[in-house]
Amino acid sequence: MIQKSDRKRADLIVGIQWGDEGKGKIVDLLAQNYDIVVRYQGGHNAGHTIVVEGKTYALHLIPSGVLNPKAVNVIGNGVVISPEALIKEMKQFENLEGRLLISDSAHMILDHHILLDQAKEKLRGKKAIGTTGRGIGPAYSDKIARSGFKIGMLRDLDKLEADLREYLQQNEPIFKSLDINLDLDSLRGKLEEYARELNSYIINTTNYLWKALDDNKRVLLEGAQGTMLDIDHGTYPYVTSSSTISAGACIGTGLNPKDIGEVTGIVKAYATRVGNGPFPTEDFGDDGEKLREQGHEFGTTTGRPRRCGWFDAVAVKSASRLNGCDGLSIMKLDVLDGFEKIKVCVAYEVNGEEIDYIPSNLEDAKPIYREFDGWEKTEGARDFDQLPENAQNYLREIEKIVGTKISIVSTSPDRDDTIRV
Ligand code: IMP
Repeated sequence: MIQKSDRKRADLIVGIQWGDEGKGKIVDLLAQNYDIVVRYQGGHNAGHTIVVEGKTYALHLIPSGVLNPKAVNVIGNGVVISPEALIKEMKQFENLEGRLLISDSAHMILDHHILLDQAKEKLRGKKAIGTTGRGIGPAYSDKIARSGFKIGMLRDLDKLEADLREYLQQNEPIFKSLDINLDLDSLRGKLEEYARELNSYIINTTNYLWKALDDNKRVLLEGAQGTMLDIDHGTYPYVTSSSTISAGACIGTGLNPKDIGEVTGIVKAYATRVGNGPFPTEDFGDDGEKLREQGHEFGTTTGRPRRCGWFDAVAVKSASRLNGCDGLSIMKLDVLDGFEKIKVCVAYEVNGEEIDYIPSNLEDAKPIYREFDGWEKTEGARDFDQLPENAQNYLREIEKIVGTKISIVSTSPDRDDTIRV
């Protein structure tokens, strides 16, 4: 019988702001030390590009471990999969047999989900969430409403087609009212293509992961989006439709809480947000513009300019607690190079009162800042001692306020420009 303390645990990478923290670089870097990398929530709303040996790869659904030829990549049951997007993404790689596994319980994003997402956003008008338009919300809604379609159903196309046609017929009044016209003639052909391209990758990934841990394999769980976009703990309704926090990794894989090992929170040295919703430290002036330009803050999935602002230590502190972070990876420190003064939000003022937690009415919170002296250059630094004193001071203070130790600092997109603290 294996003693609890001897058991292998799965380590976890989680975004602790509004997504786009730079998780891809860290997973790509750490994936070299893991046998298996797993996505557990979200869908192709996520995205990052990774450059390896001059070639650029766009990843939305396939875990970032795919660039380590030895790693097996798992898309867990908690992910919502657009078969079309996945097939397209898989074509970037020569042979994924044995290196990509898809949970048979993951739900599919089908054409009607995408059309519903876009139509509902239009209806919301000024109150639009600013979704990526990828069908994420409607696919998760169907899953929760128990009318979704698991990808494992591709194994029985006749049943899947019949069930899907029945569902589409039942929901016809809704589609009609939203001016959605579905092309049902091509339905069978599409499902056949999905089955042909994907069936050999589809398995029970929960069993696979249990066995992997029992066999002492090293497993890395890769979160998508960020904590402030979590369906329960984020800035609802301006959130995504999945559990983006570390607890979501259990639901989205079938591992239990005792299977989880080290949790690393990924956080940018400043803050960004795409889409609508409260963002207390957003900077609408020159500093925000400079962060956007220096940080190339434009969405990988949608190309939208990201809203930019200062590091919100109140939000990060509570995100670190929510996720149980053992360490923080501070990304894109070099983007702050050349700023004379750098601000950090250390508390909020809400209705004249100072608070150090996230209130339910975050839109009313005004940031209370502490100002730090800037520095000239951190870009390319690979050692903590190489960093200018002001940058070291900035990091140390963040660590103190957030109350979680910094384990990694990134100073450029390059894999090697990384400091292990
Ligand atoms: P959805 O996930 O497409 O439904 O979008 C809901 C909200 O989450 C919108 O504000 C999106 O901009 C945001 N969002 C979704 N995925 C990402 C991501 O990978 N990075 C940053 N924001 C995201």
